[in-house]
Order: sequence, then C-alpha cells, then structure tokens
Amino acid sequence: LGDRELIVASNRQPYSHERENGEISVSRPAGGLTSALDPVMQSAGGTWVAWGSGDADFDVADEDGRVGVPPESPAYDIRRVELTDEQVEGYYYGYSNQVLWPICHIDPAKMNADTAFWEHYQRANRAFADAIADETTEESVVWFQDYHLGLAPRMVREERPDAFCMQFWHITWPSWDAFQACPHYEQLLDGLLANDLVGFHTERYCQNFLDCAAMLSGTRVDRATRSVVYEGGRTFVRPFPLGIDADNRQELADSTETTAFWESFRREHDLGETVAVGVERLDYTKGIPERLTALERFWERHPEWRGEFTYVQKASESRSQIDAYGELQAEVESEIERINDRFGTDDWVPVVYLNEHLPKEGLAALYREADLGIVSPRRDGMNLVAKEFVASQVDEPGVLLLSELTGANEELGDEAVTVHPHHTNEFVEAIERALSLPKSERKRRMHDLRKQVHSNDVYAWMNAQFRTIEAIRRGREVAA
Ligand code: G6P
Repeated sequence: LGDRELIVASNRQPYSHERENGEISVSRPAGGLTSALDPVMQSAGGTWVAWGSGDADFDVADEDGRVGVPPESPAYDIRRVELTDEQVEGYYYGYSNQVLWPICHIDPAKMNADTAFWEHYQRANRAFADAIADETTEESVVWFQDYHLGLAPRMVREERPDAFCMQFWHITWPSWDAFQACPHYEQLLDGLLANDLVGFHTERYCQNFLDCAAMLSGTRVDRATRSVVYEGGRTFVRPFPLGIDADNRQELADSTETTAFWESFRREHDLGETVAVGVERLDYTKGIPERLTALERFWERHPEWRGEFTYVQKASESRSQIDAYGELQAEVESEIERINDRFGTDDWVPVVYLNEHLPKEGLAALYREADLGIVSPRRDGMNLVAKEFVASQVDEPGVLLLSELTGANEELGDEAVTVHPHHTNEFVEAIERALSLPKSERKRRMHDLRKQVHSNDVYAWMNAQFRTIEAIRRGREVAA
C-alpha cells in the first residue's frame, strides 16, 4: 500500500483489557476474523477501529479510545468505539446475529426481525463511521470487516469521498432468493456499494452478490468486469479466500509444549487408540448435533470401534444470550451425555467434551494428534478450523472430513473426505472410509492439503487484496 495508512474496522477487537483485583490483563478474543487479521496489522501498522467492550478497555486508552497493541511491543493502534448495553443488545445480539447471520447462513426460520434491532444497527454503524472518518484522510485505505458494518461504508463515504473503501464479508453471501428475506436489503446493498471493492471467500458468493446488486434500483451490473455502477461510483467484486498463518500453526504444532500437553491429556482422559476432533463455537451453523447423530450411528453399526475410537469436541460458548444459541448448547451437552451413557465403559469415553479455555498448545495438540478432523457445518462462509487442522498435521497424517457446505470445500474438497451434514448414512460411510484409508493415501492427501494451506495463507489473502486495490487505483488514474 506504499505509505497509505490502513484503517481496519470490525466489530470485534483483537485485544481486550480486563481488570482483575485491580490488575489490568490483556486477552485475545477467540474468532477467525481477529486472529487472522492481527498478524496482518502487526506487519502493516495503522489503526483498527473496534467495539471496546469493558471499562478497562477505556481506562487504558486515551480520550479518543486509542491504545497501542500488542501490549508487549505496540505495532498499531486500536481505536475503541463505546456502545451502551442497550446498543450492544440491539446491534450485536439483535440485528447482526438474529437477522444478518441467519439470513446469510440461509436459515431464515432463525431470524428475529425486531424493529428496535434495526434502529440500533443504524446507530452503531454511525458510531463506527464517525470514529473511522475521524481517523481517515483522503490518502487512507479503509478496510471494513464483515456483516456488523453493512451501513458504515456509505456513512464514511459521505464524510471522506476520496478515501479508498473496501469491505471483506467473512460469511456466506446467499442467493437473491435467500437475501431478499432480509427486511432491509435495499439499505444494506446501498451501504456496501459505497465501497470501491467488496471481497468474499468464493466466486459463488461474488456472483450471488452481483445478482442481489442487480435487484437494487439504480444499479448497473457489469458482469465482464465483475463490478457494479451505482450512485456515481463503481464497486468491484472479487473472491479472496481467507487463509491462516500456516507457518505459525506448524511451529506451534511442532513445539515441545504441544507434545507435553498431549501426553498429559492422554493420561487424563479415557481415549481410544484412534481420535477424531471437532473444534467450534457453539453455533447452530456448525452442525454439531448432526455430527453427533452420525457418530452415534457409527458406534451403533460398528461395535468393534467401541473402546477404540474417541471423538473430542472442543466447544466455546458463543452469543449465548440468544435463545437459539443457549438451546443449542443445552442440546449438544445432553446429547453427549446420552451417547456417553449409552456406549461408555469404565475405561473408555466415546465423546470427550471440552468447553473450558484451552491454551494454544492444547488446541495444537488436538489438531496434531487427531486421526480425523471433522468439520461438518450446515453452512460456513469459509471455515478456518479445517485449515488449522491441516497446518498442524506435522506428524502421522490424519484425514480431514469436510462438509460440502463450506467455502473451504472449494479449496480443500478434492483431498478431504467430503461429508454432507444432513445425510447421516453417507456421513457414517465417510467416517468408515476415512478410518480405512491406507497410510500412503493419507500421506498423499495431507501433503496436497498442506501445500494448499501454506501457499494460500493469510498473507497471500492480504496481498491479493492490496494488489487489487492498487490495480483499481491505477486504472482510475489512467481513466482520469
Ligand atoms: C465469525 C464472524 C466474525 C466473528 C466470529 C466470532 O467468524 O465472521 O466476525 O467475530 O464469528 O463471533 P463473535 O460473535 O463472538 O464475534
């Protein structure tokens, strides 16, 4: 980006400050987006505008909510936006996660379109836009992240007409038929089309977005250049499949701390010889109950695997104030208990459930040692767990079972064993097939997967976007 300043804006912040017994500590919230972007910001520098969620967040910041991070050697600033509890309720728990999340994941029955949610979503986007505009000059590149900030680009554009605005949408963009169920589709498309560039994980989401843009009055969709002309501007629409910091994951998986964690984990739990792992936030899009149904049927049909095969479910509580999430958590926990009661013995637990914090070496150990990594969402924009599993498989090669309803399937589907979360019999057969793959075949597949994950890592993702920004700017200079 040369010397242009980068302003990132997202709902979640990459670091949060907490006060415990008078002492300030720093934690890094879980979530694909922030962990993917933090290394990018550490190398590029700039400002990251995000929701500051507690008093300590503001105690350590200056009067504009600005603080340098990472705390040990600051490389960029976070500028925290303060929201009231009521705003958070309406904008984050409400509109973002009870309207946009279910709509984009094509589950409209989960939508709750309370009118107050929309009011708060607009106001919170305004608060973000004001902070962003304050940090932005006409030389800046403003990089909006995700579905929480669907309106902010238009608001910033009104204040800073010459800044370069782009947005990466981290979740699925559905077809027009699905998106139309969103009561405010016009305003959201208008907001997003204030960007110069909008990125999605896959070509299909780009095409879906262009189809939706074509339904908004006043637009002209240019399929040849994959762009939308609207309100005197042009928005380019491009796929940029998100990757992970694969070298870092590999290093962690190779560490002695990871080995030590695994040794004590094995001693502590009654695992079988063969281990499968699933890692996710407790979200209904992740397909956890469907996976448990398939696993139960697997043990039912294959008594020879009882005592031999253990599934480890790492789950993090997520958005649990929302009914659908609280209910899911209760369902997952009771299903696991029932399956363990049904098949478990004195020295073997079929499903090990981990819902407490796991240090990063712990996660790396699970990924590294698992024979199967099961990633079977009902719908997922990308899914970085699949990539983390692959990058951590530095030892004996395991197998990735991957849902065809994920963005990751476009990159990893050929070498993974494909599953359909709702096709239980096929899912069971996929587990059987994965467990019987000869070592040479597992090795070949994992080798190809690892190559893919390493070459399309988070830095490649960032560079592809920066190259596209430069190409658009150059094109505009030539045209002018
Ligand atoms: C998804 C979204 C992110 C979000 C993450 C965690 O990956 O795309 O924007 O941060 O889930 O969810 P949460 O609601 O806890 O931020």
